[in-house]
Amino acid sequence: MSSSTKTFTFEEVAKHNHKKDCWIIIKGKVYDVTPFLDDHPGGDEVLVTATEKDATTDFEDIGHSEAAVEMMEAYFVGDVDTNSIPAEQTPKHTPSPPTLAPAYNNQSFGFVKILQYLVPLLILGLAFALQYYGKKNKSTESEN
Ligand code: HEM
Repeated sequence: MSSSTKTFTFEEVAKHNHKKDCWIIIKGKVYDVTPFLDDHPGGDEVLVTATEKDATTDFEDIGHSEAAVEMMEAYFVGDVDTNSIPAEQTPKHTPSPPTLAPAYNNQSFGFVKILQYLVPLLILGLAFALQYYGKKNKSTESEN
């Protein structure tokens, strides 16, 4: 049987990417899971989203049981030419440089620092002014 195993290119497999025709790649093997979509305990959507890519990690991350692995055999249709699998199957995500602090630029950072000292000083000044004003008022009241 193994001699008659068909080898597909990634592109060929990726064409079968919808509910009426759904092929997935797991560990270099191709499975036509179309008849299994309605019976899959994890639902049909996950299987359709597992098309057009190497679904090995998706499959393994779920922690499928031995029984699940045995079931796969029934849907095996061939091997995939591993060289044809694109290195990046997911949209390229360029990691942004790590931001260590909130995005203050140097100028506004200096301003925030000054405010940190200025605000308590202002409050203190206000407290003294109120105290002084209060005392002054009392003394003028008693004079009258
Ligand atoms: C031929 C391929 C597959 C077969 C035969 C299969 C079979 C099964 C079986 C029998 C279960 C029940 C739990 C267990 O026994 O492990 C299951 C659950 C599940 N499968 Fe698959 N599966 C396949 C592929 C996939 C793929 C590619 C994904 C993509 C992420 C997936 C996602 C899930 C999820 C999310 C569950 C539900 C887990 C839970 O609710 O605990 N399966 N599958």
